Amino acid sequence: MSVPTITIAEAGRHAGESVRIPGWLYNLRKSGKIVFPLLRDGTGILQCVAVKSALAEPLFEKIKDLTQESSIVVTGKVRAEQRAPGGFEMDVEDLEVVQRVPESDPYPITPKEHGIDFLMDHRHLWLRSRRQHAILRVRHEVIRAVRDYFDSNGFTLVDTPIFTPAACEGTTSLFEVNYFDEEKVYLTQSGQLYNEATAMAFGKVYCFGPTFRAERSKTRRHLTEFWMVEPEMAYATLEDVKRVAEELIVFIVNRVLENRRAELKELERDLSKLECIRAPFPRIGYDEAVKTLQAKGSEIQWGGDLGGTDETLLGEDYDRPVMVDRYPTAVKAFYMQPDPERPEVVLGVDVLAPEGHGELIGGGQRIHDLGLLLKRIEEQGLPKEAFDWYIDLRKYGTAPHGGFGMGIERCVGWICGLDHVRETIAFPRMLYRTRP
Ligand code: 4AD
Ligand code: MG
Repeated sequence: MSVPTITIAEAGRHAGESVRIPGWLYNLRKSGKIVFPLLRDGTGILQCVAVKSALAEPLFEKIKDLTQESSIVVTGKVRAEQRAPGGFEMDVEDLEVVQRVPESDPYPITPKEHGIDFLMDHRHLWLRSRRQHAILRVRHEVIRAVRDYFDSNGFTLVDTPIFTPAACEGTTSLFEVNYFDEEKVYLTQSGQLYNEATAMAFGKVYCFGPTFRAERSKTRRHLTEFWMVEPEMAYATLEDVKRVAEELIVFIVNRVLENRRAELKELERDLSKLECIRAPFPRIGYDEAVKTLQAKGSEIQWGGDLGGTDETLLGEDYDRPVMVDRYPTAVKAFYMQPDPERPEVVLGVDVLAPEGHGELIGGGQRIHDLGLLLKRIEEQGLPKEAFDWYIDLRKYGTAPHGGFGMGIERCVGWICGLDHVRETIAFPRMLYRTRP
């Protein structure tokens, strides 16, 4: 008998047919003369039904004795079943055990509660559970949406290097790497500086890749390795940057709502919090943000950067992301364009997520004037030699330009409603975690 091999996601198209599905035993429920193996295959979970009277004795015994996460290939007939989670069940006709997990060394993650450290240590296995599976599928959808948004809006993907000779976001969070003959290089903190070069070649570009921050912050929003998407646009102003940031976020949220409802449901996400994410986002200035925060009891003074708690406090006032612009020049990176009318603030913007998820996006307009850039590099004590090529961009056809960076993990954490970014990436890298 030859039956088609399918995935659980495809089961609906095979109702009434016998099919073969390779996968793993998620769980096994026994009820007298019937056992219900829950089969998972990465595309979904399917309840199978094995009835003692319908199967040969040894086969039924084999199924009854299955252990969690054993790899199995189940053959059976797909049947519509309204009460089943995916709308279908499978009546088992045959079952091949590829590897049976022994009782002497059982699968370590059981349906009972485990502590977060235990789960993190077993991340390579934890990824199989429903919740982690749902989060990473949302992540995939977010990344797909990001690429589709930029690809269909005239941006060219130009990826930037990971080994870099200089800091982009301050020298205190650099990971140093030995690079042959004693030369030191750093893992990139951001592709932005290179994006500025490629934007002058292509007009609108984006890069998307891993970035690194040697930050000793053990918070629910910080990873030492995270994925950032960064668009950069020639002849763009701060207002252009804000518009693109807003459009991108709305596009991503709509995509996830369209394609990943089941996953959001698995995560018990309150969909109304996502359904209200529409343009325009509220826009406020840093000055106003400081006043609002002080009124809410924050210790912030004009001139200081917003802390994580401030971002949470501010974000809570709105049902959609809030854009805060014109931060003090002194707290922002060397490349930020000062406001010509108020040089003490920069034409930069941070987009803060609602529900306390903090900064999603940081960006703005870059300094395009050669003299001003040289002055800022010197003031911040940065090594001018390392920036030679970057300075060249202000000599050969300089023009106003800008862009931003969005951390994928922060975005996924917010959309999924998670209280920590560690679950938004398959293998998180944090201050005290580089394994598995
Ligand atoms: O605000 P940041 O540091 O901005 C830049 O790196 C700019 N050069 C980007 C640009 O204009 N092209 O980082 C941008 C975003 C943050 O808003 C946040 O979402 C994320 O990157 N991010 C982190 N995510 C996780 N862990 C960390 N340690 C992060 N640091 C920043
Ligand atoms: Mg920032």
